[in-house]
Amino acid sequence: MKRIGVLTSGGDSPGMNPCVRAVTRTALSLGLEVYGVHRGYSGLIEGDMEPLTARDVGGIIQRGGTFLQTARSAKFMTIDGRREAVRRMNDRRIDGLVIVGGNGSLAGAYELHKMGVPVVGAPGSIDNDVPYTDMAIGVDTALNTMTLFIDMIKDTASSHQRCFLVEVMGRNCGYLALVGGIIAGAEVTVIPEKPITVEDVAAAVEKAYVRGKTHAIIVVAEGATPKTQEIADYLRQGTAGFEVRVTVLGHVQRGGSPTAFDRLLATRMGIRAAQALAAGEFGKMVGLVGNKVELIDLEKVASETKKLDLALYDLADMLAR
Ligand code: F6P
Repeated sequence: MKRIGVLTSGGDSPGMNPCVRAVTRTALSLGLEVYGVHRGYSGLIEGDMEPLTARDVGGIIQRGGTFLQTARSAKFMTIDGRREAVRRMNDRRIDGLVIVGGNGSLAGAYELHKMGVPVVGAPGSIDNDVPYTDMAIGVDTALNTMTLFIDMIKDTASSHQRCFLVEVMGRNCGYLALVGGIIAGAEVTVIPEKPITVEDVAAAVEKAYVRGKTHAIIVVAEGATPKTQEIADYLRQGTAGFEVRVTVLGHVQRGGSPTAFDRLLATRMGIRAAQALAAGEFGKMVGLVGNKVELIDLEKVASETKKLDLALYDLADMLAR
């Protein structure tokens, strides 16, 4: 192995930059050349890549987003697109690839592996829905951002005796909502993994009112049913004692400077990914298991769904007294 490529793919997540920095500097120290591929798999298909030196990845450890940029490539989902990507790699004599991204990107990495391309993946997604890793790169920063904003919402909610529905990201996974709800002290959490009715939500809000709470915060995962608006409409019919407002946090959760935890996690994962590629350990994903960074078969990652620890839901419920 002489020359490797590194790319970030799918939704950006805070910590992708420190990960690319660690991959680059580790690979360089192992005597490899490194190419940065722009715009994820789209850039790979188009051959949009350039050599990276240690200086090129300087000053990025604290930056959110991904300086390589990212994309969700429909073309790469086709066999022709993937063949084109492999052709481009061969043209540029790229012997292996580190791919930083979420479930879709890692499934793409597994497809490349099956075509004989040496790949190692690293989980980068705020959703924390990648199996075989306790945390993905970016989750901690997203949780910190959510907490900051929910704390602010609480201030105004309390002042006006209001009930706020705060919708958070996570695609089909309730992790961000559940953990965000616990650390921000929400009264109710609505997640896809735990069925709940609008009546249940209203009853919980009413209980909070009767207990003398000055506000009620409901954290709703974007992938949950009932939807945020449906819950708000129901509550506005007057079942709860608070006025109702809705805040959708949206893409602020994906931006911002990575936290200390994310910088360290991304750095450890980037180092391990580059080392694995150099050592010929292909078809793997680096995952945080306990406090160790381990190599997991991409086949397992691509074929399984991460399960949410629902014991946390019961804890959240118990704490919302
Ligand atoms: O996977 C990360 C994520 O932010 C999800 O939480 C969300 O559902 C989705 O990406 C939003 O995608 P887009 O950036 O295309 O709006």
